Amino acid sequence: MTDTGEAPPLVRLEGVGKNYGNVIALRDVTLEASAGEVTCVLGDNGAGKSTLIKIVAGLHRHDLGTYEVQGEPVAFSSPRDALDRGIATVYQDLAVVPLMPVWRNFFLGSEKRKGFGRMDIGFMRRTAKDELAAMGIDLRDVDQPIGTLSGGERQCVAIARAVYFGAKALVLDEPTAALGVKQAGTVLRYIVQARERGLAVVFITHNPHHAYPVGDRFLILNRGRPIGYHTKAEITREELTALMAGGAELEQLAHELDAAASGGAPAKELAEGADLLRKTD
Ligand SMILES: Nc1ncnc2c1ncn2[C@@H]1O[C@H](COP(=O)(O)OP(=O)(O)O)[C@@H](O)[C@H]1O
Ligand SMILES: [Mg+2]
Repeated sequence: MTDTGEAPPLVRLEGVGKNYGNVIALRDVTLEASAGEVTCVLGDNGAGKSTLIKIVAGLHRHDLGTYEVQGEPVAFSSPRDALDRGIATVYQDLAVVPLMPVWRNFFLGSEKRKGFGRMDIGFMRRTAKDELAAMGIDLRDVDQPIGTLSGGERQCVAIARAVYFGAKALVLDEPTAALGVKQAGTVLRYIVQARERGLAVVFITHNPHHAYPVGDRFLILNRGRPIGYHTKAEITREELTALMAGGAELEQLAHELDAAASGGAPAKELAEGADLLRKTD
């Protein structure tokens, strides 16, 4: 964990609340995301996770409380405003053009041009490949259509893209929810990579077994309200699981982490997570 010293967190919400008409979607939420840390937001369906990240991402405005970026209060009116402050959001249904090559998708909407408005294809192809490699993503061919990648690989391309375009904070909405065991492990590894590159990561999930191995802080929401906000030192995996209604079997995580670890050089946290499970089971 990085010692953030005097610097204010990249993202800080305090006492934030949001209503949709008569529906109280969120109340009294306090959350910090600092450089070099992963902040996990956990909760069952309807807990308010998406509402929270839409506020962080600039899609919705909060009704109560304060939202600060690097210590300055902000009131974003669009995701573009949030992006200008370095806050990038990767949604579960990624906006990709399936038939376009990986490198085109990497630069989509921010194409690099040379003289006469012509696209600098060589630069984009090379850069996409290098940036993906720097995140530890080894694609055989950046010319392949992005639609041929697995869901996990697509999430990883989106993460690498956000890093390349200068994101300081990366918000991931349930990036592992629709994935199989092995792919979820791959995405968890890239979350660790993004943290190691100094980003503040906000990782939304309903799975405590995905959150615990990679998280530094944990906010647990239930029906729009926080029922826990802890640093990793303050909470065990068992306590986190107990806070979450209907947590999956612990044994399953041990298998998931093993699968992830056997896929290549394991992130330290994943290996530790698997060990931890073995010890306590
Ligand atoms: N656009 C909306 N209009 C009305 N109610 C909404 C809207 N979006 C979410 N809600 C309600 O707000 C609560 C929190 O939802 P949401 O943030 O999507 O939770 P989660 O992502 O944790 O499943 C739920 O009760 C949901 O029905
Ligand atoms: Mg949601």
